[in-house]
Amino acid sequence: MLSKRLKSIAGLIKETDNVLDIGCDHALLGIYLVKSKILDSIIVSDINEKALKSGLKNIKKHKVQDKVDARLGNGLEVADEHIDTVIISGLGASNILKILNHPKTKDLKKLIIQANNDHFMLRRVLTLKGFYISHESLVYEKGHYYINIVFEKGKRKYTRKELIYGPFLMYANKDYYDFLLKKKKAIIDNIPKYKIITILKHKKDELFLKKLTK
Ligand SMILES: C[S@@+](CC[C@H](N)C(=O)[O-])C[C@H]1O[C@@H](n2cnc3c(N)ncnc32)[C@H](O)[C@@H]1O
Repeated sequence: MLSKRLKSIAGLIKETDNVLDIGCDHALLGIYLVKSKILDSIIVSDINEKALKSGLKNIKKHKVQDKVDARLGNGLEVADEHIDTVIISGLGASNILKILNHPKTKDLKKLIIQANNDHFMLRRVLTLKGFYISHESLVYEKGHYYINIVFEKGKRKYTRKELIYGPFLMYANKDYYDFLLKKKKAIIDNIPKYKIITILKHKKDELFLKKLTK
């Protein structure tokens, strides 16, 4: 069965999207998308031969070789045909931005991203690259929060706070901010008391998070 985390990404795909899943690894998301008839076909890729082999094995097991086209290669370089939507999940923000720092990114209409870290950098760089945030959602699974962000082609201005906390998430997810607040408190408790400026910086963030949780 597909994890709740990956299912939440599947829910963001429309049947008209021409999708490339970059860093597919096991290829389970692509397999699910065609088996559940959300998509007729999908291209999935991985830079790592071993990872792609596990994907190919699953594709064969589920008998969807004619619908899931698995390719070995780096990021957007694997697809020459018309792709308008990419999924990138389970990678760090800097790797994701490296992948998207490619001329083909300008031809994409939608980026569906579930990054492991640094959502601020991701929002900041991609909104500067000519994408706006059309959707954000939060998934909780096995003690972790995962953030889905959909970027679509277009310009919109964001405040720094929106880029840090998410223009949708910052108003809608009290539980998430309770969780972040606890994490922030733990960070502050671990800073040596003489590092006053660092403590003050984190306290300022803590104050803002407290406001969001009310
Ligand atoms: C942690 S797995 C995530 C798998 C799946 N997307 C998920 O969310 O469960 C990350 C995968 O991305 C692949 N990867 C990393 N950099 C890549 C790149 N530049 N192009 C294609 N695949 C890449 C890795 O080889 C690895 O298999």
